Amino acid sequence: MKKLKTSIIVGLGVAMLVGCFPKASEVIRSLPVENKEQILAKYSESEIAEGKVLFTNNCAKCHKQKEPETRTPEQWNNTLKRMIPKAKLNDRDGQLVRAYLIVNAKEA
Ligand code: HEC
Repeated sequence: MKKLKTSIIVGLGVAMLVGCFPKASEVIRSLPVENKEQILAKYSESEIAEGKVLFTNNCAKCHKQKEPETRTPEQWNNTLKRMIPKAKLNDRDGQLVRAYLIVNAKEA
């Protein structure tokens, strides 16, 4: 009986945690870290240009703009998991910002 109670409580806790995660960045979270070549194969030039505009317009509101070449693709990927929800970007826009940053990132 005690065991059952514990597992119900644990189960509820997990359900609540999962429910609270920000949905907008789920795609970003689940994407593997892509390198420059993979990004260039996946996104067109105009999509990457759009990513730059989205970055300029949305990522310098709370702090100074952080230049793409200051971080490696891996570092950008980790940072964006936190920053895309902050900037309230949808999945598509988030991916375009990520594409722009990775293409122009510091060599890993
Ligand atoms: C709502 C405010 C807000 C917005 C919008 C925002 N940031 Fe941030 N950013 C922060 C805060 C607060 C920190 C410091 C705390 C932290 O690192 O989580 C930070 C830290 C950072 C850092 C340094 C930490 C690291 O991991 O390297 C980078 C780089 C960054 N932001 C990039 C971005 C990008 C790119 C965007 C656009 C997608 C963005 N930020 C949008 C608030 C914001």
